[in-house]
Amino acid sequence: MIAKVVRTLKDRLGAAAPASPRATAHPPLVPLKLRTVDAAFALPEVSSVADLGGVWAVDAGYSFYALERHAPDRAVLVDDDITPVVRRRAAAFPHLQLLEQNFGLPRTPGDVGPVGVVLLFDVLLHQVDPDWDEILRRYAPQAQALAIVNPMYDVAPQTVRLLDLGEEHYRRAVPPQDNLDGLFSRLDELNPQRGRRWRDVHDVWQWGITDADLRATMTGLGFSAVHAEQLGRWRGLPDFADCAYVFRRDG
Ligand SMILES: C[S@@+](CC[C@H](N)C(=O)[O-])C[C@H]1O[C@@H](n2cnc3c(N)ncnc32)[C@H](O)[C@@H]1O
Repeated sequence: MIAKVVRTLKDRLGAAAPASPRATAHPPLVPLKLRTVDAAFALPEVSSVADLGGVWAVDAGYSFYALERHAPDRAVLVDDDITPVVRRRAAAFPHLQLLEQNFGLPRTPGDVGPVGVVLLFDVLLHQVDPDWDEILRRYAPQAQALAIVNPMYDVAPQTVRLLDLGEEHYRRAVPPQDNLDGLFSRLDELNPQRGRRWRDVHDVWQWGITDADLRATMTGLGFSAVHAEQLGRWRGLPDFADCAYVFRRDG
């Protein structure tokens, strides 16, 4: 069960100063995610990073945290929407590559290239076509580790497509968001910004992914969890737990 906190890297992490949200003062970063970055960089094979979907609300704060604290050889940020703030800050890091494109495109893993750790922070539950598990399959072959922070669904035994729960249940389950008004009446309409139907855009919550399904997927890809934390309810939502993992490529 995920309630068990596993920190096999604890000794190594103890040697470093504790993660501090002040490392990047603006915008505020979540300590759970900073610890997850630190846990990944504690692995000797991790010296580069790709942050998939790193922008919204934090202006790539976890990429910059990794760059400032762990001095990776190379960093790549991939997001559909890269802000001017990110571009300005990125100018100080010539070895940070910005890719403003969908990380689910078939070509994007190749554009990212081989990398020590892939960060997937609050993005997996948004991924449709390719779905969350296919994203993991596409990036696993070129990563030594995958660091995942995600609200995990723990009120059902298997992963669910949240829109299939129906509007009433969906609205109860997910956080309030402006784009939910009228969402269910336009599910099959085109979202012009994303070029796909509203039911498939990453701008809304799509999946309730269970801990068991995530772990089984990663096991199938030849990775094992070397760090995991569960902090209780995700922002008070009854159906989701606040969870973090680092999966490392086996032997
Ligand atoms: C919920 S925010 C998470 C931001 C940050 N990773 C964090 O943990 O605070 C999701 C971000 O991922 C981006 N995103 C989600 N799916 C994407 C995809 N398939 N391709 C490119 N960007 C994506 C969104 O544009 C947004 O910036």
